[in-house]
Amino acid sequence: MARLVTVLGATGSIGTQTLDVIRENRDVFAVSALTTYGRVTELMEMIREFDPKRVVVHSVEDRDLIVRVFPTLEVLFGDDAYSDVAAAEPGAIVVNALVGSIGIRPTLRAIAAGCDVALANKETLVAAGDLVMAAAKAAGVAVIPVDSEHSAIAQCLQGYHANEVLRLIVTASGGPFRTYSREQLSRVTIGDALAHPTWRMGPKITVDSATLMNKGLEVIEAHYLFSMPYDAIDVIVHPQSIVHSMVEFQDGAVLAQLGAADMRIPISFALFHGRTPRFSPFRRMDLSTLSQLTFESPDIERFPALALAYDCGRAGGTYPTVMNAANEVAAGAFLRDELPFLDIVDVVSRVIDRHVSETLDDISQVFSADAWARRQAMEFVLERGQRL
Ligand SMILES: NC(=O)c1ccc[n+]([C@@H]2O[C@H](COP(=O)([O-])OP(=O)(O)OC[C@H]3O[C@@H](n4cnc5c(N)ncnc54)[C@H](OP(=O)(O)O)[C@@H]3O)[C@@H](O)[C@H]2O)c1
Repeated sequence: MARLVTVLGATGSIGTQTLDVIRENRDVFAVSALTTYGRVTELMEMIREFDPKRVVVHSVEDRDLIVRVFPTLEVLFGDDAYSDVAAAEPGAIVVNALVGSIGIRPTLRAIAAGCDVALANKETLVAAGDLVMAAAKAAGVAVIPVDSEHSAIAQCLQGYHANEVLRLIVTASGGPFRTYSREQLSRVTIGDALAHPTWRMGPKITVDSATLMNKGLEVIEAHYLFSMPYDAIDVIVHPQSIVHSMVEFQDGAVLAQLGAADMRIPISFALFHGRTPRFSPFRRMDLSTLSQLTFESPDIERFPALALAYDCGRAGGTYPTVMNAANEVAAGAFLRDELPFLDIVDVVSRVIDRHVSETLDDISQVFSADAWARRQAMEFVLERGQRL
């Protein structure tokens, strides 16, 4: 019987690529639900092709529009509907491809409903990693990484015990500004930042890749997914994006996972979790066309976001939550041309400096720390705007 899949954020980069994988494996997967924020035309095409049981849009106007075209379809709308739909099909696999900490509630609701979660939405783990992983353990469901780096690590770890692992080595492309000086970085535009050299992704993660905050978020994500201390998680810059990450074992062996820079490969791995993977028609790696694979240390002077993320991760409590929320606000302001590129990480750093962390016991603390950090970050963004 086909396994039901709910795709949160179906109209985004990961969402559409998830549907590519499902399209190729129609006898294995069937779509239970799809969501968009506002890309209704795209969603309607998906409804025609995948025939979901229910869909979610953000506004009541969009809900009415879809109901007119698909009168028998269950159409939900509003903020809470993303969580409701995540929990609507116990036993389904929920692909969380939402962007930002808005992904936390749907993840927790999916877990509570007994759904495995294929998690692209790394912000969920950064903001609430301990609570989310504890909830998944208590519910007996899996949180399966979609991020290519974490998928690579999960693949390298198959068949090994935790006590055999020495360290995780997370690779980073270095983004479009890998070789830029701080002076050059001070002049980059939105268009420059959105031109990622190896991956085609949504705008927020593309900006995070350019500041290297994405790698910082991924270090924290790796800490929670694989229960590894921060001292045992290293980052190495690998501009070709062929080695997606590595694991070094106690005996000195290093396992690496290689493949084409195509997110449909880690998405397939996540969807086929617990099943035998199939031949995949997506991009393949051709070693004969690769002239070199290079590795270098990240430069934390030019890209301070990575060091900031390690500091916040090690400090724990609400620090990672606050870092993530401030970054969402600052990256968003950059994308609206309201903040210069170098000020993204500066704003995040200033919000963290003001923060008094708490030990995390309850999810309500995550939401209030997130809201506090957003207000602080917005204040700094507005202040910066007045000075420009
Ligand atoms: N793209 C990649 O290659 C990649 C790789 C690894 C990890 N990730 C992670 O995967 C997640 C998704 O990234 P993406 O690149 O796919 O993002 P994206 O292209 O921007 O897509 C985001 C999706 O979320 C929806 N959405 C946005 N704001 C929303 C809101 N307030 N409420 C409900 N839905 C909302 C969007 O709807 P609309 O279409 O209507 O705007 C879209 O469907 C991120 O956490 C990212 O870090 C992405």
